[in-house]
Formats: sequence, structure tokens, C-alpha cells
Amino acid sequence: MKVLVVGKGAREHALAWKISRSPLVEKVYCFPGNAGISQIAQIPELADDSVNTLADFAKKERIDFTVVGPEDYLAKGIVDHFESLGLKIFGANKNAAKLESSKAFAKEIMDSANIPTASYSTVTDLNSGIKVLERSSFPIVLKADGLAAGKGVVICDSLKSATSELTEMLGGKFKDAGAKVVIEQFLKGEELSLLLLTDGTAVKPLLFSQDHKALLDGDTGPNTGGMGAYAPVLSGTSELYEKINEKVTLPLLNELKKMNIDYRGVLYIGLMIVNGIPYVLEYNARFGDPETEPLMMLLKSDIVPYFTACAERTLEKLPELEWIEGYGATVVIASGGYPESYKKGEIISGLTDVDKDCVVFHAGTKFNGNGGIVTDGGRVLMVTGTGKTIKETMDLIYKNVGKISFDGAYYRKDIAHREIKRI
Ligand code: AMP
Ligand code: GLY
Repeated sequence: MKVLVVGKGAREHALAWKISRSPLVEKVYCFPGNAGISQIAQIPELADDSVNTLADFAKKERIDFTVVGPEDYLAKGIVDHFESLGLKIFGANKNAAKLESSKAFAKEIMDSANIPTASYSTVTDLNSGIKVLERSSFPIVLKADGLAAGKGVVICDSLKSATSELTEMLGGKFKDAGAKVVIEQFLKGEELSLLLLTDGTAVKPLLFSQDHKALLDGDTGPNTGGMGAYAPVLSGTSELYEKINEKVTLPLLNELKKMNIDYRGVLYIGLMIVNGIPYVLEYNARFGDPETEPLMMLLKSDIVPYFTACAERTLEKLPELEWIEGYGATVVIASGGYPESYKKGEIISGLTDVDKDCVVFHAGTKFNGNGGIVTDGGRVLMVTGTGKTIKETMDLIYKNVGKISFDGAYYRKDIAHREIKRI
């Protein structure tokens, strides 16, 4: 098979890496790709990154199957377009991706299906928004309705800061994505990610994973796209999985069916576990980043038959996914200044010194023209590894993180701290 992976981050690097290990696959392509991905997949030269251009390429190159990473392609309808041309593809179609691309829509579905989630109001004008805030207790969570590159959620400690944030959101801070704002009750508990492969009816769960969204050690500082992740999570028991299945997954799939939404692909459920009850914080219609990086290293099964079965609605016929025993984790090396402004083009050194049992997935890198690799984004590299225990895994990863350097490089030193304390 020839497989095309769409996207350019570490998540797509991990997906392309896993797909390239499948005996069913003879060649992997990735677009737009990055310097790391180009070492395992061919990056075609295309005029632009539009859905039409990608579909033309897939037809011309006789690509057998396409796997989509990022949400913006899903929200733009890449799956609908490919399928309308008879091209096979893995991912949520445009209607299904609304679960991620509109937080207000996701909340409405959860309400109709009685899925546990924080109580909320949706507002579109400042006066009614302020009235909601005046009746609220703090902290409170403000969420821009649309896609805001992971930056659209702000936790506010006081009426004053919430009013100023709401004013900025409704005033265009996130452009159209903030024209509607969800004001949501703050939940305190443990956050978990559960990713499920689904063909709309059957479901195959990946291991529970945990992301570290805050920039600084101790889970403090501003929210980022994620500074590290690990899997599995000890508190993600089979009892908890059953509870989520009964209270979240099945009601959601039923509700989507009632609405004639054909959900095939990966469903990412962001959860807050409060006193044993799984509350949904968000749905994503794509693989989580950085959760996918350790998950792909831990996955023993060939993922390609699962991707094609989701697209072809035959997932029920496949066994449960199999996993390597032990732990997997990833630590993100980011550019200084991220998630605000940061420099690009810093020369990266030490990549070839990394141990063979670690994989460095590239998030934002490119070649500098002299064969060197330079930084090209806020999150730059994700050093990923596995081990028998979480401690062994983190020791391996941090030893290798220490070998890589560039000007301004920053990483958290406490990834997986909750799991380490649990043992
Ligand atoms: P989201 O993009 O909705 O996942 O939000 C980003 C992050 O904000 C989540 O991963 C949580 O850490 C935090 N968050 C979102 N909603 C809530 C909530 N209702 N209560 C507490 N924290 C939240
Ligand atoms: N790791 C969080 C996300 O992918 O949304």
C-alpha cells in the first residue's frame, strides 16, 4: 500500500513512523511534513496545502489510503472531498469534526445525550456575558467556541479578569472563533485523555494517557498545546473505562447517529475525573498531540488495518489493540518564549547522539539548506521512549533530552510526576 499522512507535526511524525512499520505498507508520503518526517516518508513537492491539491496528488500518485492528523483539514472537509472522489481516507468528516470545531455544539450534544460535563452558558454579546459572570463563582473557564490552535481556553480567577478576557474574546482576540464564548464551571480533579478508534458503531480504545498542558513545572503557568505526555495511567482502571463507555461513549455515538452524523476516525475524549465521575472537558476529532507519540511507540498491533476498518465500517471484526507492557512517555522541547512569541531558525545539535531506543519525533523543524536542522515552530521536538516502569521511562527520556540543544530550548522537568508519585 501507498499511504499519505496529512500534517506537519510530531503527531504526524509518530503516525507516519508507526504506519511505515506495517508489513502492508510499501511507501509512506507526508505533506506538508517537516525535517524529521522526511527521514521516514517522502515529502512531495506540491503547489499548496489545499484539500484539492492533496486530492489531486493522491489520485495521480495512486495513494491507497490517506490518514489525516490536524483538525483544520477535518473541519475543512478533507474527508468528505476525498470520499466523494472515491479516495480512501481515515478521519472525521466535516459534520463529525464539528464536535471539535464548535465547543457550543459539543456542549449541546452532551446536554441532549445526558453526558456528564461542566455546567455552562453560551454567550455572543458582552452584556449578557457579564450578567452570567456576575452570577458565577470563581475560578471560571472561558472557551472560545471555534478552533483557536489550543489557545482558546482561559481559566479566570476573578470577575475582573473574566470580564476583561470575555471582552477580548468577543472583541476579536481569536477572530471569528471567539464570536461565541462558552462560560463554564471550573472542575477540579484529575485530567485524563481517552482516544478511541471508531467506525461509528464499534469502538477500539487506546490506552488512557495524560497530557501536561501547562507550560511550567508543577502544572503552573499558561496553557500550551501540551508539554509532555505518558501512557498508560494507573488511575485509568477498567472500571473507569466501563463507566466512560456507559456514560460518555455509547450515549455520544447514539446521539450522533440520531443526528445523522457519520463519525468515523479517532475520537479524543478529554476528561476530568471528579470523585470517580468522568466529566467531559472536550472532544477532539483527531489524535491528541503529544499523547499520540508515546501511544504509537507502545502499540504492538499493526495500526493500518484498524485505520482502513474505521473507514470501511468493519472495525467490529478486528481484535482489541495490543500493547507493549510497561510505559511510554514523551517530553516536548519547545522554543524559548512559547506559547507567546519565539524565534525560529535556531540550529539544533545533538540529534544524532540520541540512544537507539528513544525516538525523537519532530514537531517544528526544517532543513537550513546546508543539511543542518533548525527550529521552525513553538514546539520543536518530542523525545519519546518506553520502559518497564514510569521511572525507567522518564530517566531514559531525560537522559536523551539532555543531549539535544538549541538556543532558547525549554522543557518541563516533571513530566509524568503524578504517575511517579502513585508508585
Ligand atoms: P480544552 O481545550 O477544552 O481541553 O481546555 C484546555 C484545558 O483547560 C483542559 O485541558 C483543562 O486543563 C482546562 N479546562 C478546560 N475546561 C475546564 C473546566 N471546566 N474545569 C477545569 N479545567 C478546565
Ligand atoms: N493534547 C491535547 C490535544 O491534543 O488537544
